[in-house]
Amino acid sequence: GTSRGSTTRPYPYVPIICPPGRYVMTLWRFFFCLFFSEKLLVLTVATEETDGFRRFMQSAKYFNYNVKVLGMGEAWRGGDVGRSIGGGQKVRLLKEAMEGLADQEDLIVLSVDSYDLIFAGGPEEILRKFQQANNKVIFAAEGLIWPDKRLADKYPSIRSGKRYLNSGGIIGYAPYINRIVSQWSLHDNDDDQLFYTKIYLDPLQRQTLNMTLDHKCQIFQNLNGAVDEVLLKFGTDRVRVRNTAYDSLPVVVHGNGNTKMYLNYLANYVPNAWNYEHGCSHCDDDLVDLSQLKEYPNVLVGVFIEQPTPFLPEFFQRLLTLDYPKDKLKVFVHNNEVYHEKHIQKFWEENRNAFSSFKVVGPEENLSQGEARNMGMDLCRKDAACDYYFSMDSDVMLTNRQTLKLLIEQNRKIIGPLVTRHGKLWSNFWGALSLDGYYARSEDYVDIVQRKRVGVWNIPYMAHIYLVKGSALRNELKERNYFVLEKLDPDMALCRNAREMGVFMYITNRHDFGRLISTANYNISHYNNDLWQIFENPVDWKEKYIHQNYTQIFTENYLEEPCPDVFWFPVFTEKACDEIVEEMEHYGSWSGGKHEDKRISGGYETVPTDDIHMKQIGFDKEWLHFIREFISPVTLKVFSGYYTKGYAVMNFVVKYTPERQAYLRPHHDSSTFTINIALNNKDRDFQGGGCRFHRYNCSIESPRKGWSFMHPGRLTHLHEGLPTTNGTRYIAVSFIDP
Ligand SMILES: *[C@@H]1O[C@H](CO)[C@@H](O)[C@H](O)[C@H]1NC(C)=O
Ligand SMILES: *[C@@H]1O[C@H](CO)[C@@H](O)[C@H](O)[C@H]1NC(C)=O
Ligand SMILES: *[C@@H]1O[C@H](CO)[C@@H](O)[C@H](O)[C@H]1NC(C)=O
Ligand SMILES: *[C@@H]1O[C@H](CO)[C@@H](O)[C@H](O)[C@H]1NC(C)=O
Ligand SMILES: *[C@@H]1O[C@H](CO)[C@@H](O)[C@H](O)[C@H]1NC(C)=O
Ligand SMILES: *[C@@H]1O[C@H](CO)[C@@H](O)[C@H](O)[C@H]1NC(C)=O
Repeated sequence: GTSRGSTTRPYPYVPIICPPGRYVMTLWRFFFCLFFSEKLLVLTVATEETDGFRRFMQSAKYFNYNVKVLGMGEAWRGGDVGRSIGGGQKVRLLKEAMEGLADQEDLIVLSVDSYDLIFAGGPEEILRKFQQANNKVIFAAEGLIWPDKRLADKYPSIRSGKRYLNSGGIIGYAPYINRIVSQWSLHDNDDDQLFYTKIYLDPLQRQTLNMTLDHKCQIFQNLNGAVDEVLLKFGTDRVRVRNTAYDSLPVVVHGNGNTKMYLNYLANYVPNAWNYEHGCSHCDDDLVDLSQLKEYPNVLVGVFIEQPTPFLPEFFQRLLTLDYPKDKLKVFVHNNEVYHEKHIQKFWEENRNAFSSFKVVGPEENLSQGEARNMGMDLCRKDAACDYYFSMDSDVMLTNRQTLKLLIEQNRKIIGPLVTRHGKLWSNFWGALSLDGYYARSEDYVDIVQRKRVGVWNIPYMAHIYLVKGSALRNELKERNYFVLEKLDPDMALCRNAREMGVFMYITNRHDFGRLISTANYNISHYNNDLWQIFENPVDWKEKYIHQNYTQIFTENYLEEPCPDVFWFPVFTEKACDEIVEEMEHYGSWSGGKHEDKRISGGYETVPTDDIHMKQIGFDKEWLHFIREFISPVTLKVFSGYYTKGYAVMNFVVKYTPERQAYLRPHHDSSTFTINIALNNKDRDFQGGGCRFHRYNCSIESPRKGWSFMHPGRLTHLHEGLPTTNGTRYIAVSFIDP
């Protein structure tokens, strides 16, 4: 296959090509090549080891390029660092470097940018293409002219291809490159592209220096203005970019102008970062081995409750059960909601000493979301002992207890775990941005969300949950007030700053981490509002309210038949029972067990109970959904062949107490079948109680909290409620398919 067999080369870092192309390295050829071949030296200017620089070097190393870095550690005086073009300092450094190489006639020099550039092919290929072009110097080309549009007319006309010079890539024989850069006598902040352009546009120089542009992107692909021409091309080992306009496979890919994000997307694959056969190849590079550290890093956890959020107590429980030493965790909570103060108070009372510290800023501080996020981040930034800042919004349900460890191990400046809305394509990252900076769908977005492509992805935007290194906060991200920027949403402002500072943001989907819950339509006017979340957040609802062993009914026949055709099975958690009782007591208007009942059609109840209907607390739709989701499957199992409509008009909670109504006389129910769920505990909350079925002379005297009876309503199952002798007994009842 490809010419990747670098380990067999005599000099590890100097590729020797003679002739270029694919060949077998014989001994003869080896010596011939050693003395007669042309060599390629890559020169690049980088004053800092940015994430982009490291990525460049990684791609260079993969192909065994011989790279010399110029200017490392020098102060950058070449203008705005965020942009790749502009910067005479680059020419000055290249000029200095070329002075010592000017007499090496067979040395081919490739001068490229590095922060926003990667290699997609190897040195052999570049040399072959360079030699085929038969010029002494080739510049990269692009379709947009910059910085001086007035020079457009001076360019030689071409039939097709990119017409204008781009200085991000130059290849040529050393003496020729030297003759170009030795003309430099300007300042570090003068423009390099303009300098090269003027030389190229001088017809005499163009000819004597034998210069041309890579019009059809054989070697250099500038992405600016060409994003639509470029696609990923997956091979078995490698991924390339293909220019579809010229059908070329460029070797050097440059995210010039404002195409850095697109380069980041391409570099998630090119040259070997991810492919279909092997998956992610860099995911295990530079991992932090926590088990080798003497102490775990200190983490400041910032928790942001910016709107009423369902399942907040569960959120805090998950924070508590993260697998991480609690004495290494400091917690900062911003709570913007008066409604949640009771939840935080409770958690604080029970767990304040669990963490190294626990600080809450409440709604009385009247902080905007951006101010609160700045405050949290600043607490870590200003504390030299803070190794990581872990920001979590209250709508993130982390189901993976290892999340924090896994993120730290990944060793990136900014990394978030992928979390998605259950059953939806909604997640906490964007794969691309639109021109105005909002969401755009990347080609790989769906595959990443659905974990069909698994890895660690460089992405332009993330929110809800992420880990930032304290060192990055004190260096690249040391400017404060990141979250307050013009009119941007705070997370968008943070991400924009990170992008502008050249700090890569990653999202990992290497594990299942958890989910995003929906905070929309969260009505907080009830007493226990999460009960109403069965539609909006069904997974969390089920986890909170459905009995742990409910699914075993189907898998392990986990149910009982204490009387003929009376089935008994677990359905509610303790919490569900408690919250329903609380909800009813909070509502408080018990019917009093009277025959006259305005709530029912006809207005008369022959066997009245002291009760409250689900409809009275606005819970009827949710209750019927619960019946269809969780009761109907049990019905199908125990009364096989009977398909319930899951319909019920009479859904209510009954209260038995010796002071009011203690029992219910024998009766039939107006239902095909009835469910009767015990909402509290015999002996702890009441004495007596139970149910007796006359036809079978069978009583169940020890109902279990959270367990339901299911029995036919008419004809066979005449039954009575046995007297409650002390305390208060609550049951939830539904007459199903009346
Ligand atoms: C560059 O030099 C080659 C021969 O070395 C020649 O064929 C070609 O025409 C020259 N190109 C230009 C633009 O001068
Ligand atoms: C809270 O802040 C907003 C704007 O920042 C202001 O309009 C409002 O009056 C403040 N409320 C209180 C109670 O200070
Ligand atoms: C919230 O619930 C209350 C009480 O049931 C109800 O009156 C109100 O209409 C609900 N609000 C919304 C927006 O659904
Ligand atoms: C679920 O069943 C197991 C045994 O199968 C039992 O140990 C456990 O306590 C049950 N869980 C609850 C909440 O009752
Ligand atoms: C009903 O069962 C009880 C014991 O559980 C027994 O003492 C009684 O005689 C039975 N009654 C009838 C009518 O079978
Ligand atoms: C009734 O319950 C209360 C507490 O729940 C207890 O103190 C009392 O002794 C009970 N009475 C009887 C008769 O069991």
